Order: sequence, then C-alpha cells, then structure tokens
Amino acid sequence: MDIMFVASEVAPYSKTGGLADVCSALPKALDHLGHNVILVTPLYKCVREYFQRMAQPLEQLYGVTLEAPVGKLTKRAGVCRATLPESNVTIYFIEHDDYFNRDGLYNQGQVDYQDNCARYSFFCRCALELIRRLSLHVDIIHANDWQTGLIPVFLDTIYKSEEASRFYEQSQVSWGERFRPRIDRMIDEYGKSLYDHIKTVITIHNLRHQGKFCRDAMDLVGLDWSLFTFDKLEFYGQLNLLKAGLVFSDLITTVSPRYAEEIQTVEFGERLQGVLQCRASDLVGILNGVDIDEWNPATDPTLAANYDVDSFKVGKAICKASLQKKVGLPQDPETPLFGVVSRFDAQKGLDLVAQCAPTLIEKERAQFVVLGSGDRTLTKRFLELAQRYPNNFATRTEFSVELSHQIEAGIDIFLMPSRYEPCGLNQFYSLRYGSLPVVRDVGGLHDSVVNASDENINAGVANGFLFYWSQAEDMLSAINWALHCYRHRHNDWDNMIRTAMSTDLSWNRSAKRYAELYQDLIKTR
Ligand code: ADP
Ligand code: GLC
Repeated sequence: MDIMFVASEVAPYSKTGGLADVCSALPKALDHLGHNVILVTPLYKCVREYFQRMAQPLEQLYGVTLEAPVGKLTKRAGVCRATLPESNVTIYFIEHDDYFNRDGLYNQGQVDYQDNCARYSFFCRCALELIRRLSLHVDIIHANDWQTGLIPVFLDTIYKSEEASRFYEQSQVSWGERFRPRIDRMIDEYGKSLYDHIKTVITIHNLRHQGKFCRDAMDLVGLDWSLFTFDKLEFYGQLNLLKAGLVFSDLITTVSPRYAEEIQTVEFGERLQGVLQCRASDLVGILNGVDIDEWNPATDPTLAANYDVDSFKVGKAICKASLQKKVGLPQDPETPLFGVVSRFDAQKGLDLVAQCAPTLIEKERAQFVVLGSGDRTLTKRFLELAQRYPNNFATRTEFSVELSHQIEAGIDIFLMPSRYEPCGLNQFYSLRYGSLPVVRDVGGLHDSVVNASDENINAGVANGFLFYWSQAEDMLSAINWALHCYRHRHNDWDNMIRTAMSTDLSWNRSAKRYAELYQDLIKTR
C-alpha cells in the first residue's frame, strides 16, 4: 500500500513528546512490513539544526513550490527531502520560514503562537498539494492529532471528485464545449485519479489538545461556512480542528484500547465524547510500540554499561552508580532510586510525586531523579525539593534524550501517576530497561502494566505496580508495596524485571494491525 503519514513532529528531527516517537517508529515499522510509506512534516528550525549537527544531507527539491491559500492570500512553500534513518521512508519537509523557522514548535515559552491555525491549515493544504505536485500515488493518508485534522476535510470538500466535477460543470458553462477534451484531461490528471480513491485515518494521541480557534478562523482556513455546524466543525461556538478530523476521516484510531473506551465517557471525553460515541464503530484503539533499535539496553551507546535480560543485575548496578554520580546523588547501591521523565503537565499527575517524596525520603531514605519541564509551579516544587534534600532529590529541567535513557536504565522504580494517559511511552521504556513502573490504572498504562498482585507474581506475568485513585495515599501504598518487594522479595523482584524486559513491545504487531485496517478501508472504495 502507498501510505502518506502526516505529522507535526517526527523524531529525531522535532519532538515535544511521544507523538514524535510514534510518528517516526510507526512509519518505519510499516516500511519494514513492505509498504510504501512517505512522511510529511514541517521544516522547523530544530530540523535544520539537526541536519547541520549530524552533517546529514537534506535535499532541497529545487523548482518544487507548493501553493495554498491562507485567508485571502496565497502562500508558497518549498520542499526538502530526506530518508528516515534505518528505513526506506522518504520524508518531505514543508518549508515556509515565516511559519516554521521558529524556536518552538507550537509555542514560545508557555504561550501558543497566535497564528497556529494558519500555520497548520497551510501545512495540511501543502501535504495535499504535494500529491498533485509530485504526482504521488497515495492509498491512505494517516493524519495525527489536531494539527493535521483539516486534511480529511480539505480532501473531501476540495480535492475529491466533487470539486473536480463542480469545476467541470462550471468550466463547461464558462468555457464552452470547445475546451471539453482539455478539461477532461485536467480532471483525470489532477483531480479524480490522484485524490478520489484516497482513504483517511486520524489518530488521537491526546484528546485534550484539540486546536480550538475563534469562529472567524473559518475564513482563514478557506472552508465553506456551511461546514460550521455542530455536527461538523463547530464546537461550542469555536472552530475545532480535531473535531473536523474526527468527523471527516474514514477511520479514527487512538493509541490504546482502554483509551478508546475512556474517551467515549464524560470523564475522559473532553466534551467530544458525543462525537466519538457517534463514530464508535469506526474507532479503534491500538497500543503503541517501542522503537526497539533506539531503546535497547544491550546496545544503547549512552549507558555506562550495556545489559540484557541475563546480565541486568550487574549492568543496572553500574548504570545506577553512574546516574547517581551524574545527577549529584550519593552513590549508594542499596537506596531505592525512583525516576520520572515527563512533560510537567497536569495530565501527568506529578503533583502526587511531589507530595509523596518527603515521606519516602524521610522514612525510606529513597532517592529521586526527575527530568522534565513545562508547568512553572511544578518545576518550582521539584527544584525546591532538590534544594531541601540535596542528597535525595535531583531535578533536571532540560530536554535531554541522553539523560532520559540513562534514567530509564539507572533507576529501580519508574513513577507515572498520570490523571489520564492515551498510551504513554515512558512506562514501555522502563519495562524494556528493567526499571519497574508504578503507574495509575488508566489508558495505555492499564493496557501495558500488569500489577504485582501475588497471583500475577506467581503466574510470572507481573511487570509493575498499579494504583487506582488519583490520590497521594493510593500511590503511596502502591509504592510501599513495590519497596517491600524490592527489599524483601528479591527473587520475585528479579523475576518481575525479567518479565518486564521480555515483554514484546515492538511495533511489529501494532503496525500489522494498522496495515489490516488500511487494507479494510481500501476494500471499501
Ligand atoms: P507525552 O507524549 O504525553 O509527553 P509519552 O510518555 O508518550 O508522553 O512520551 C514522552 C516522550 O517524551 C518520551 O519519549 C520521553 O522520553 C520524552 N521526554 C519527555 N520529557 C523529556 C525530557 N525533559 N527530556 C528528554 N525526553 C523527554
Ligand atoms: C500523547 C499522549 C501519550 C502517547 C503519545 C504517543 O502525547 O499523551 O500518552 O503515548 O501521545 O501516542
């Protein structure tokens, strides 16, 4: 199949969170299954910097210009091309310096860019224009999150045959029969054949972020006002780009089966539960996977020692000592070392970690290393804890892929108390690196962590610890149980690590599921 994957961030070029990891690993996995995958993403400043830093070639497609309207203006974009590492996936970068050559992807500091609607509407048009400009054959367009939500709408209302036939009828009237053969050819070449058969999929990575803009943005994106109704693009008086994608795409997926159920409820539905209930028969949850080349403790070049399921005891001890040294904590092998790698966002429930930490430090002599950034209040709280307990609490606020790998390897227990979690990747990384996760029982965490009940431990399937309520006491009791196992049930602990490290987290299975769904869609055309 010919699949065009469109995403607003793609690792290793641009990344604010797990979206980037998925939008690089899934296309790669589909490519390995033998499909023909191309990726389309903006050429941000950090992308240019990546290619410079890595001295890798980024090919400018000279003479290829994409034109698309933004409001009353016509804007032009250039196109650059590269190949996604370890794959045959061609990645097209949409180049528009004014829109994309900026420091942040979506915001500057904590403030969203004012022109995000224009930026991503233009990006969506460019992805579709690319098909025409390069005469690409595409069976499936796979969009991701609100930034790409307009693609199914543009495709349906502007690019598909409806437009072509309207164009045909209008041209017949105005240009007369004389031009008919030429118009036929144009429609065949540029209209019908390239767009008509394309099916669309949109994946929800995080329902909270919907791309909501004031109603006037309808003119900016250039869609007919007849679409601004409650069953289409309108959302409580605003234009909602994710809703647009959910209504117009042929299939909706999200990143875990549990989250697919949760988002149809008031509690997790972010006021889109009605739309999702309506489309329940086209909504599928598929658990993300892990890029197992990138996250492999046996080959990871950033680690002080490499290890696998047979050598984790020695390997992890070396990584722990090295991590403690790196973040300035005493190198005590016995002390339980907890870790967090996360965006600091209300979603992640990290205030519970800040609440539990003093008790765990004072009563259990625990150590913590926290890596993340975002919310100011939470950053301040973690920095204060580091000041108050310099021998027990280390806070790092940079974005460091290297340190994130070292934390996953060096800690004993990973904490992820998310209020909601579509999938979550860090619990996967900790499983893979043999650091047992303590997580809240929601979304993808529910689908990937098997609780260490005595029954599950005895059955050899436990790989972590779950708690149910989003409350410090509930998390603390899960942590205390984890500490008990860590200190007193060494065999069980080691077995859980073995189970965790052996869990199949590769993309292969999920990518196959996506491919089946694409195939089903293609059959319906
Ligand atoms: P989300 O996408 O909601 O932030 P995920 O768990 O799916 O959550 O993915 C988070 C990704 O971002 C992981 O790859 C994680 O390692 C990475 N990450 C988050 N914060 C940092 C940071 N400060 N430094 C390095 N990587 C980070
Ligand atoms: C989002 C979600 C996270 C998920 C990631 C990749 O950022 O918050 O749970 O793992 O997307 O799908």
